[in-house]
Amino acid sequence: MKKILVINGPNLNLLGLREPAIYGSRDYKALEAFVLESGLDLGFQVECFQSNYEGAIVDKIQQAYGVFDGIVINPAAYTHTSVAILDALKAVAIPTVEVHLSDVDSREEFRRHSFVSLYACKVIKGKGFEGYREALEYFSEK
Ligand code: DQA
Repeated sequence: MKKILVINGPNLNLLGLREPAIYGSRDYKALEAFVLESGLDLGFQVECFQSNYEGAIVDKIQQAYGVFDGIVINPAAYTHTSVAILDALKAVAIPTVEVHLSDVDSREEFRRHSFVSLYACKVIKGKGFEGYREALEYFSEK
């Protein structure tokens, strides 16, 4: 059975409360439930991890080496700033799909650049929770 790690970055624990016009009204618990159920449907073993700390995300990616077959990551604000997360993904070389709930291309200019996209096999933007299902589906095709 394939093992997939789903990582969510800073402030995604505040889903529901946080800018609902952009991110929707469902909370982080609902996202985790959606992701776990999508994983079950696809026959994957899925683990969810959320952190507001860049180093904790780097540690988690490093620990994924030899354990997980794929990573789905929404690096949130670290998308646009973190060379450390990009380098961790390159180091472990685990196939990775990048997800954003919102359409980052149609928002502020600074959201258009992603360091993680320099490594990700696929990037999904603006599809809300559904984007995570699509990201998991990528691994059933592989
Ligand atoms: C986000 C988009 C980022 O620009 C933002 O900083 C987030 C969430 C998204 O899911 O749309 O925190 O990654």
